Amino acid sequence: MKITSSEFVKSAFARDHWVGGGLPEIAFLGRSNVGKSSLINSLLQRKGLARISNTPGRTQSINFFLINGSFYFVDLPGYGFARVSKAKMAGWGRMAEEYLSDRGELMLSVQLIDVRHDPTALDHQLNEWLVFNQKPHLVVATKADKLSGNALIRQIQAIRSAFEKSDVIAYSSISKRGRDELLDRIGAAAKKPHDFS
Ligand code: GTP
Ligand code: MG
Repeated sequence: MKITSSEFVKSAFARDHWVGGGLPEIAFLGRSNVGKSSLINSLLQRKGLARISNTPGRTQSINFFLINGSFYFVDLPGYGFARVSKAKMAGWGRMAEEYLSDRGELMLSVQLIDVRHDPTALDHQLNEWLVFNQKPHLVVATKADKLSGNALIRQIQAIRSAFEKSDVIAYSSISKRGRDELLDRIGAAAKKPHDFS
């Protein structure tokens, strides 16, 4: 799939701020700092469209980006960052869970994992939830540029066996490894016949 246009549409802090709907949505999920916003920018080849920061927990809202005028990318807040207060974590859980379970427009969930680390309990929980609820999804092992050779192969293998019910794609927002494959998967999901009425 080719990206011909992309624009930031809005940040939502509550359900009634979600975009009007009627177009397919592709969501990006994963723990804080895993590289969700960077992956979105690298897919779109737009450096500062989704905000990147070295402060984990930066993206606190659900951010909608209109792609090719025909579907949305949805950047969800990261989970599992200890410095975010308990009250805020509960808020995250509700907001994201509500979006994931209720949003009819959601055509594909892209779950990001840091290729260097073993998946956390929350990574497993989210993956089990996606599998159990039969949500179309993919696991993307990102920051692949940070490992090389056998170490990379070993880690990807470990992630594949940890998430054996999911497809796993190795990705790097810096080298663009995996970009074409991920864009094709996204294009196919966005084109699936749908009826959101
Ligand atoms: P929150 O919004 O806080 O949940 O974080 P996020 O998941 O959106 O992560 P973000 O894209 O802000 O990236 C976090 C850090 O990881 C930044 O310092 C990025 O530059 C770095 N990073 C992200 N992707 C990659 C990658 O593929 N390779 C390398 N080397 N660094 C990356
Ligand atoms: Mg972010």
